[in-house]
Amino acid sequence: MSGYQHRVAGKRLNRLDGIGKVTGKHVYAADFALPGMLFGKILRSSEPHARIRRLDVAKARALPGVRTVLTASDIPAIRFGTAIKDRSVFADGVVRFRGEAIAAVAATSLEIAEAAVRAIEIEYEPLPAVFDPEEALTSGAPLVHAGWSDYQALPVFDREGNVSGRAELGGGDVEAGFAQSYRIYEHRFTTQHVHPGYTEPRSAIASWDGNGDVIVWCNTQLPFDMKNMLAEVLDLPASKVRVIVPGIGGGFGGKLRVGVEHFAAWLARASKRPVKVMTTSEEELTDAYPRQPTIVTLRTGVSRDGLLLARQGRVLLDCGAYANSGPATAAIALQVLAGPYRTPHLAFESVAVYTNKGSTGSFRAPAGPMANFAVESQMDLIADNLGIDPLEFRLRNVYREGDKGPAGETLTSVSIEECLRKAADAIGWHDRRPAHGRGKGIACSWWLTTGGSSGVYVKINPDGSVTLVSGAVELGSGAITGAAQILAEELGVDLADVNVAEVDTHSSPYDYGAQGSRTAFSVGNACIAAAKDLRRQIGELMAAQWQVPIDSVRLEEKSVISGDKRMSLAEVASLSQRSGGGLISHGTAIQPMPVFDPSKVKNHPLPAWTSHSFHAHAVDLSVDQVTGEVSIHRYVVAQDVGYAINPTYIEGQIEGGVAQGIGQTLSEEIVYDQGRVMNANLTDYKMPTTMDMPRVECILVEKPGVNGPYGAKGVGEPPCIQPPAAIANAIAVASGVRVCSLPITAEKIALERLDRAAD
Ligand code: MOS
Repeated sequence: MSGYQHRVAGKRLNRLDGIGKVTGKHVYAADFALPGMLFGKILRSSEPHARIRRLDVAKARALPGVRTVLTASDIPAIRFGTAIKDRSVFADGVVRFRGEAIAAVAATSLEIAEAAVRAIEIEYEPLPAVFDPEEALTSGAPLVHAGWSDYQALPVFDREGNVSGRAELGGGDVEAGFAQSYRIYEHRFTTQHVHPGYTEPRSAIASWDGNGDVIVWCNTQLPFDMKNMLAEVLDLPASKVRVIVPGIGGGFGGKLRVGVEHFAAWLARASKRPVKVMTTSEEELTDAYPRQPTIVTLRTGVSRDGLLLARQGRVLLDCGAYANSGPATAAIALQVLAGPYRTPHLAFESVAVYTNKGSTGSFRAPAGPMANFAVESQMDLIADNLGIDPLEFRLRNVYREGDKGPAGETLTSVSIEECLRKAADAIGWHDRRPAHGRGKGIACSWWLTTGGSSGVYVKINPDGSVTLVSGAVELGSGAITGAAQILAEELGVDLADVNVAEVDTHSSPYDYGAQGSRTAFSVGNACIAAAKDLRRQIGELMAAQWQVPIDSVRLEEKSVISGDKRMSLAEVASLSQRSGGGLISHGTAIQPMPVFDPSKVKNHPLPAWTSHSFHAHAVDLSVDQVTGEVSIHRYVVAQDVGYAINPTYIEGQIEGGVAQGIGQTLSEEIVYDQGRVMNANLTDYKMPTTMDMPRVECILVEKPGVNGPYGAKGVGEPPCIQPPAAIANAIAVASGVRVCSLPITAEKIALERLDRAAD
């Protein structure tokens, strides 16, 4: 920050976990193995909604090499879940989607476990099913959960029947706003199921010891939540569950909740042997936590000079068979629909519904791309209709410093205008149609840095190295290296002096987890607190040793100095061990909640955003006039990161987020037909490869925020929010075709053009 040169923070230093990962030496949970372990496999439902009439595991149990076969009748009937306790380990007599777990097998080899799963006999009695979220809302629609009203749930949500949660956000008087409007626009947008696409499958090994304690090695983003979730499904006190994360190959929100850990734990308990369970691609695409499909309707009134006056919106979100984070995700969509624009009158509603499809979850910037696709596509549609340049239309309406957000919270460190102007300049906005079939598009948004507390233990060792113990896992973003850079900065050591311990819930301090763009931010703040306490300890120790005033003692370049006295940090650490317990501290951090106006929110779990960030994306692309194929020439992201702790890894986050965004925009979709996934493999589920990726140009805007370390803001989630709208807007310019449903496949563009030609 101004007036102070950082030595370690802000630098493009190599990641602490980098060499192990690029050389293949790093042990991920999926690589992890224990001697004598068994292999677990899951029997999954072939019906979308049915009663299980008969389940016979005798033949499976009799197969040589099979150690355990478990069904719902072998374990306690316990319901668990995030918003609503609506799920059980195995189907509770009724299956609610194709792919739901019914039984699990542990055997001495994977092949035997698979054979045993095939040997289980099952008969179903089909029940009426509902697949369409709008149909699920109609009276008389089949209930996905007949017993919904008996479930325990977070009280915040308004639930009924297939509605797993409703929330509202807004203020003013939309009808009055529409009455004043020069024009009113109404549009409908739809989005699809998208898999997070982490490279490492979900994997867990569970092992029980002689005291009835279980250790689970797994790739969870939230080790402490996992410990509590497992304690719940295993019917154990949490103190008897220990979660260790050897390594995790990406998560993007898909590894926040139990995946296979509970199966491994139950199978290991019954088998009295360690059991490993790992997902296949087919299981990933049928029973994971993909991004929820949505239907967003948006009605917007504007003045003659292009100011937004009123907006009414509704987000209908399809949770699938189990609610998980669906109701909260739908509610978060409302903030995305509102921002980053001043609108005097707002009335937004979210509705999350159950259908007989696979469960869904929080995927990187939950609700972000879906809601942003709607609002930012509509901004272009309105600008075109009013004859105003889309950039100019946005600039007239964006938030300014000190404005009130949708929940009445005061917005600070507002940088949306700067982001928009920089992205537009970089893409060459003055020439939006450089050639026939070619066009440029822009989209912008805002996002939060998730709160929750972080704790770290920091130890200075007698060789001068520093050990950082955090409860947050390194997901692959580089966030822990970022936090370590802050720690090194604060302690006056080099990044290479910092060692990071493995996350183990028995010994790591609590952390709210690697989620919500919060890791470097929150762990970084905890590191600042821990370093401050270490400097105090060093001051007290050396003031006594040297008989000098405490405030004369300072830490500089791995030395402790007072006047002409000097001792290396290593020697000070050694002295501290000989005279006391050594240099060790505990630092904690939590973000303050902003003040908001409760009358503007109803049933909303996250009414006001903390440490919000702003960002704009601009794209230059061509559309093949015959096939509809889209080729992206240039992609620019201007993102306000507050303070760039390590520009290289922030750029990595931006490139990865844009890749996921391009996938969601152009090709990715888990395709369902009558509740069956039609493309449950990675050939037919089309993620972009490096061959499909344009070079992403990153512009890091650094407008310091109030809460983050050195002014940093969360960076991980935002890059995947704007690609759908930015690309859709550019496609509309390049081809004249406006597609309001994701993914915008070449087929959709080409068919739309044919339809027009026929008209
Ligand atoms: Mo994220 S969806 O908060 O891992």
